[in-house]
Amino acid sequence: MNIILLGPPGAGKGTQAARLIERHGMRQLSTGDMLRAAVAAQTPIGLKAKAVMESGALVSDEIVSALIDAELLAMGPEVGAIFDGYPRTAAQAESLDAILASHGRALDHVIELAVDEDELVRRIVGRYSCAQCGEGYHDQFKQPRVPGTCDKCGSHEFKRRKDDNEDTVRTRMAEYRAKTAPILPLYEARGIVSRVDGMAPIDQVTDAIDAVLASG
Ligand code: AP5
Repeated sequence: MNIILLGPPGAGKGTQAARLIERHGMRQLSTGDMLRAAVAAQTPIGLKAKAVMESGALVSDEIVSALIDAELLAMGPEVGAIFDGYPRTAAQAESLDAILASHGRALDHVIELAVDEDELVRRIVGRYSCAQCGEGYHDQFKQPRVPGTCDKCGSHEFKRRKDDNEDTVRTRMAEYRAKTAPILPLYEARGIVSRVDGMAPIDQVTDAIDAVLASG
């Protein structure tokens, strides 16, 4: 099964992708994570993407589509893909169709996480993660069970993303409204879009997504 998680910054795409991996053995293809890894490794792509990402604008369509193609190439055909943060423009949606076809895959569901934008700023500005294993936390909504210790790996080091400040978040949301939201009708016309309430508690969102996947 191949699905897209679609929603503005902070909608919960990464949070839900982590649960789909655990529950369904799927693989997350997050262009944001791939780009952040490239920035950290100072690869040519990372050097190009760094300033763009820090401003909240979008990296070029060619770069992100090439990253997705390469990841799919490395995956077994039996492993389902969760596209997280991709596609984000009409050109990327078009590329994804071609890439999936070239890998003998088809898109089963586009799951739209519907959310309230003001709440998203609160979510993003409070977000942090374990520097060791990447487990996600939040100042208000999800703190480690033992303060200062990662639930998953026991590390005491945590980090925050550079683009998780209010100004950049507003730019990221404007980019979503202008370039990403307009691709929804394309998938609606194919009858594969399901809308899930992303404002519900995390577990309920997961259950709603599971219900969509169970529908076939
Ligand atoms: P990317 O990394 O994709 O960031 P994003 O889309 O802005 O999404 P986020 O990761 O910020 O949010 P999320 O929806 O995953 O939310 P999360 O689950 O963490 O992209 C970053 C940048 O890379 C872009 O700005 C761009 O420059 C570049 N880029 C990436 N892909 C690109 C592409 N395809 N084309 C061009 N450029 C690209 O949740 C947020 C917080 O809320 C967490 O703390 C979580 O615990 C909490 N939370 C989640 N769900 C709930 C809930 N239901 N209730 C309460 N709290 C919740």
